Amino acid sequence: MPEILLRTGDITHETVDVVVNAANSSLLGGGGVDGAIHARGGPAILAACRQIRRERYGNGLPVGEAVATTGGDLPARWVVHTVGPVWSASHDQSDLLAACYRNSLAVADELGATSIAFPAISTGVYRYPQEDAAEVALATVRDCLPGLLHVQEVRFVLFSQDAYDIWAAVLAR
Ligand code: APR
Repeated sequence: MPEILLRTGDITHETVDVVVNAANSSLLGGGGVDGAIHARGGPAILAACRQIRRERYGNGLPVGEAVATTGGDLPARWVVHTVGPVWSASHDQSDLLAACYRNSLAVADELGATSIAFPAISTGVYRYPQEDAAEVALATVRDCLPGLLHVQEVRFVLFSQDAYDIWAAVLAR
């Protein structure tokens, strides 16, 4: 049975087949996870993102969609870029957040990846509450795993002990 692991740290250090980037629709970089991946992954990742923009997503990657590029100088072989929803107090964005996880897993599995590391998508700049995000993410991954051919390990890499504790409590339910 594929396993789900939680850990704290910098996702760019993870030695997995796929690292997932919490990108924005431009795919041209930013702060947070996005900034760290491009900084450590090097220019090959941005060049691949630019090619994707030119060839497939002229208007930018829609929220919830996922695309793969080389991992560049990262320990990971590939980066899967996905765009999380910006949290809204008035609109439930959980379906779009779930789509980020579902589509990232599908892209990774299609590549033949056996291991994938996710950040807590949308919980930084996009202000999604950590516990709500954890509930959506863990339920979606649990739902998707049986249907995947290759993925055997899913890691969630949290950037603080507080975030880790929230995710661990949700995972333990
Ligand atoms: N490794 C793991 N987790 C990280 C790292 C890192 N190196 N850096 C930040 N985080 C955590 C944040 O603390 C947060 O919990 O990842 C989570 C997601 O935060 P963001 O990176 O801000 O992503 P998000 O909230 O999805 O916002 C995306 O921010 O950086 C820009 O270009 C990006 O416009 C996009 C937006």
